[in-house]
Amino acid sequence: MADSSASTSASAADRAKPRVLSGVQPSGRLHLGNYFGALRHFVPLQDSHDTFYCVVDLHAITVHQNAEELREAIYETAAAFLASGLRPDAAVLFNQSRVAAHSQLAWMFNCVARLGWLERMTQFKDKTASHRERASAGLYVYPTLMAADILCYRAGFVPVGEDQRQHLELTRDIAEKFNHDWCGGEEYFPLPEPLISQDAARIMSLRDGTKKMSKSDASDAACIYLSDDADTIASKLRKAKSDSEPLPGSETLDSQGRPRAGVRDARPEAWNLLGIWQAASGATWAETIERFAGKGFAQLKESLTEAVVAEVVPLGREINRHMADRGELERILADGAGRAEAVATPIVRGAAERMGLLL
Ligand code: TYM
Repeated sequence: MADSSASTSASAADRAKPRVLSGVQPSGRLHLGNYFGALRHFVPLQDSHDTFYCVVDLHAITVHQNAEELREAIYETAAAFLASGLRPDAAVLFNQSRVAAHSQLAWMFNCVARLGWLERMTQFKDKTASHRERASAGLYVYPTLMAADILCYRAGFVPVGEDQRQHLELTRDIAEKFNHDWCGGEEYFPLPEPLISQDAARIMSLRDGTKKMSKSDASDAACIYLSDDADTIASKLRKAKSDSEPLPGSETLDSQGRPRAGVRDARPEAWNLLGIWQAASGATWAETIERFAGKGFAQLKESLTEAVVAEVVPLGREINRHMADRGELERILADGAGRAEAVATPIVRGAAERMGLLL
């Protein structure tokens, strides 16, 4: 750590562990992509790392929300954290807006990030394609708030799905420029690394294997939600887009047992369903391909339904169980915010001091 004034109240043991932060938007409709791409990877890190996981409610309001629904969605995302296996005594669980340090550092970063960098963000371009003029200014600076989320803890590692890679690169650019412009090159902020799992980092839509699974998909059948029941999951998977070829064989894997370059692009739907089966069953690619090689989609979809139901239905049940105890969720979030603040405030104060601010 570069700044001795930025000491924290974390225990000595936690300080010795590498620090991790990640965030999830309170969409109220978490899906299989969120779970396999991110949430599931948060869990083992809570025992090996000093972990901070936040419900990013300030990011949610970059597009209009119904206030009552947003409040519910914040609790529901916290409930999904717990249902996935996060323990409030091991990981710091909180909602972003309660820790003022995030917004304070985000403003400083708005003054560090260059317009040209933000212009290049593909997620902003995708989200605003035809209505850029009417997008909120918040949506434009969304990535500077994300950089602040990470850097106000000086987190070194960020578990995310593949779609967040570009935002992580921007975070590194901001850290580097801040260190250069305001700290004379001292590494006040570390350059964080994304932790992107090799598999399931990009779960695609069930209706179009070239588009990522997303709650904003026009078709409800494109996406399996953690709240879906067994019949809904079975029906969505039955209707999932397929192609007319038998499923691929072992010649599609490279010497390390991973899909060869380009094979996924040739058959995006087949590889997406195989990838979901792999993620749900915990099998390797070699085992997955061996099991389904030469078979038809009907067989894959049947096994897939079984595997996905076994993962998702208990999660949905646990989310509902936690949602029934709003008092406990509120206590966990308030306690987490206090612990998060104790770490973030001195770090942000140190940054403000370097900029000449009297924070
Ligand atoms: P969000 O809320 O869209 O998604 C939460 C996490 O789920 C991953 N994910 C996926 N992974 C695989 N396949 C998919 N189809 C899929 N869809 C979503 C995302 O990569 C993410 O890890 N900007 C972030 C939230 C955020 C954040 C942060 C993340 C705000 N501040 C700081 C990390 C660190 C977002 O919108 O994620």
